[in-house]
Amino acid sequence: MDNLWRDDEAAGLEGLDLLVYRSRLIGRDANLVVWGGGNTSIKGTEIDFRGREVRVMRIKGSGSDLRTIERKHFPGIRLDDLEPLYDREAMSDDEMVAYLVHCLMEPGAPRPSIETLLHGFVPRPHIDHTHADAILALTNTADGRRHVEAVYGQEAIWIPYRRPGFVLSREVAEAVRRHPKARCVVLEKHGLITWGQSARESYDATIEMNSRAEEYARAKGKGKAAFGAAARRPLPAPARRAVAARVAPFLRGLLSGRPHSGEEPATGDGAAAVGQRVVLRFDDGEDVLDFAGSEAGPQLCLAGPATPDHLLYTKPRPLLVAGHAPEDLETAAGLADLKRAIEAGLLKYAAWYDLYFKKNSTGSEPRLDPFPRVVLIPGVGMLTAWKDARHTRIVADIYHHTIRVMRAAQGIGEYRSLGVKETFDVEYWPMELYKLTLAPPEQDLARRVALVTGAASGIGRAVARRLAASGCHIVATDIDVEGVRALAEEIAAREGMDRAIGLRLDVTDEASVKAAFEEASLAYGGLDVVVSNAGIAHVSPVDRMSLRDWQRSFDVNATGHFLVGREAMRILEEQGIGGSLIFVASKNVLAPGKDFGAYSAAKAAETQLARVLAIEGGEHRVRVNIVNPDAIFQDSGLWSSAVREERARAHGVRPEELEEFYRRRNLLQVRVGAEDVAEAALWLASDRSAKTTGCIITTDGGVREAFPR
Ligand code: NAI
Repeated sequence: MDNLWRDDEAAGLEGLDLLVYRSRLIGRDANLVVWGGGNTSIKGTEIDFRGREVRVMRIKGSGSDLRTIERKHFPGIRLDDLEPLYDREAMSDDEMVAYLVHCLMEPGAPRPSIETLLHGFVPRPHIDHTHADAILALTNTADGRRHVEAVYGQEAIWIPYRRPGFVLSREVAEAVRRHPKARCVVLEKHGLITWGQSARESYDATIEMNSRAEEYARAKGKGKAAFGAAARRPLPAPARRAVAARVAPFLRGLLSGRPHSGEEPATGDGAAAVGQRVVLRFDDGEDVLDFAGSEAGPQLCLAGPATPDHLLYTKPRPLLVAGHAPEDLETAAGLADLKRAIEAGLLKYAAWYDLYFKKNSTGSEPRLDPFPRVVLIPGVGMLTAWKDARHTRIVADIYHHTIRVMRAAQGIGEYRSLGVKETFDVEYWPMELYKLTLAPPEQDLARRVALVTGAASGIGRAVARRLAASGCHIVATDIDVEGVRALAEEIAAREGMDRAIGLRLDVTDEASVKAAFEEASLAYGGLDVVVSNAGIAHVSPVDRMSLRDWQRSFDVNATGHFLVGREAMRILEEQGIGGSLIFVASKNVLAPGKDFGAYSAAKAAETQLARVLAIEGGEHRVRVNIVNPDAIFQDSGLWSSAVREERARAHGVRPEELEEFYRRRNLLQVRVGAEDVAEAALWLASDRSAKTTGCIITTDGGVREAFPR
């Protein structure tokens, strides 16, 4: 394990700044802590609001991440207020949280870490607490204590597993006081605590202890096949991705409450009848393929999570899909077989979860979702599921670490996880349940995925931004791949990690359409909304129009919508949880303009296709609607100078007067913008339009000739 400390970087830093530096070094190494795990602290003196010198501990606040932590993420706790708690016999989590609020230096500071008392009670100025894979590999074995002693001897204190809280904090502190020479504490199935007189000493100890554990695991595991023989070899990478893209929407549907085969289909209020949706993420890392296809995999999957932290993300166990013939996966029969195996596996999982809940519940807990968050498909890879793409990534990352811990633990001895009761107590920890109730209400389009074509410019880009701002995941597609990548980055920067991807999709190319939809399924598990928007304008009177120009307009403005609509329907039917298709047509469909033959005729074909799709989609609860904009100049590439000149000529005005001409032409006398179209698309995408299909919404300021009828 690398020691990342650099004297030149640390020079000049002290106190809280040095704690920030040290914390970030720890956070940078995913083998030490992942995704907000771990915590660090420093004790010193500060001046309080009345000018008095007080002893203060700065400790990581709950909800921050060591990798990116800043000064403001370390609430200050007055030690004179905290230390008297050490004499108590017991304290509930709620009491502890409420008490700590009174000890804060700054009212309104972030809530201090759940492990604040542990840091406070241990009389050391600098403390690091990590959940390092290497330490877990030692503790999560049949004979964990012996291995810890073999590595550290008297230098480490062993603390048997206990859920974090007051009692664990006291136990650790008492043990440290009893063993003043010890250099660290190893918490069974939890992690490591190190300390030092200086920030450097504490960090060095963290790295040293982990390196020693790694060396031990390496030596013990040498020559051993930790997961036994390979029972199933992975498919080649393109085949794995193709299979995963086919099964992901099916799995997403099941996890989102689609009735499984044999169950009565939900009736009634459309989308409202479906359960809470999830998004998925595909991962075919070598470690995943190796583990999922191994001899020991099925048994180890039942063993459970490595730590309480892992559990809260990955749930008690993954689903390892079994009972299908992986060598046939690329055939239609093989795929159908795999889907049956997935469905059967999920039902079995849910039944097991039910039992686990009933056996351990006190009767007062609400049962949480009974489905897995990690689904392993031997030969193919892993699909992780949760409320958004950030969380599916975190679950995947954590499962990689779980595999790493299992591999090393199997090399050392035999992997052991939290017991069933311990698992339940963490999963249904009142503090965690309480946190769930505090979560802000989800946005309109949370847990949804929208694919938008022609998203690099004008209306498509505005729609993508608007849907994203309402919580949706965005697959932004265009032939301008740079444009959609930039848009995806912009959306992710504003709305959150992984909330958008940018893909090349040429609506005239069948293979390109299929490939982009596959990518969408791998990134998010499927789709809920498709905005078929890409379009080009062509201006010419019919008698002077070339066949090529006519066909080009039809390729993009008609056939393009067919290819996109067809692929969308296939995925939405596979998912079985409904969906919304939105076609951006034009005012020209209802009120065609002179010299716009190729464009208007193709847009009319698009509209008719959308209506037929609305008829066909009804039984699948797929709603299909149309938006008719007119004269949107803002950001639009459609209004090239040639098109402007032609349209100006057709209307008998000068090109620079065109925007004003269109404004005056509509009933409301307004300029219509791309955002206005985006608002209409948002309504059609959301459940607020759940009872609307086969409809045309105009966004044209009101053009009498173009009233839908
Ligand atoms: P735009 O030109 O700004 O954007 C269209 C996007 O489609 C561009 O990014 C372009 O690269 C992309 N595109 C073109 N061919 C493609 C292909 N083969 N595959 C994938 N992407 C392709 O145009 P704007 O104004 O945003 O128009 C969007 C839609 O709105 C079009 O369908 C258009 O017909 C329709 N519309 C626009 C009106 C306006 O006044 N701007 C009025 C009525 C309808």
